[in-house]
Amino acid sequence: MDIEKVNSMDFREFVDVFGNVIERCPLIAAAVWSQRPFSNLEDLEKHFFAFIDALPLSGREGILRCHPDLAGPELQRGTLTPESQREQSGAGLMNLGAAERLRLAELNARYQARFGFPFVLAARLSDREAVPRELARRLRCLRAQELSTAMDEVKKIGRLRLADLLGSDFPKP
Ligand code: GUN
Repeated sequence: MDIEKVNSMDFREFVDVFGNVIERCPLIAAAVWSQRPFSNLEDLEKHFFAFIDALPLSGREGILRCHPDLAGPELQRGTLTPESQREQSGAGLMNLGAAERLRLAELNARYQARFGFPFVLAARLSDREAVPRELARRLRCLRAQELSTAMDEVKKIGRLRLADLLGSDFPKP
């Protein structure tokens, strides 16, 4: 898909196509549509990220809270968004043994209790061994630092999703 195609989309089409670039936050695509035309695909990405960066703390925490747990109940139930389902399956999180699943559930719960938002990680850049390791490491971080790390992960997820939608001339992280 090229930038002319993106710039020609009406509001409905744009939100249909880009509404889940940021997990379960179609409002962000809705706001970004108002800023067209975009000069190129990187410019489109910049508008997504600038919107996120301009949010108050409550808005950035809200974005994190829209993310489902990694290897959580929604993965088992099959109620994730198609993007999240693909990313979590690709990281091998569908194939965990009972002990691994229990360990992740415990770590996710401790993380949520400590920070007040779920653990977010670009699952496609990780795997089933690295996820619990990284979760345990990030549990020890200070809240402000952790919020910043988590928002960086949201952007990595968004960049990969944009790359999927836009095709190969958009570099992946
Ligand atoms: N990484 C990629 N997708 C997701 C998701 O849906 N939730 C979380 N927590 N991390 C992700």
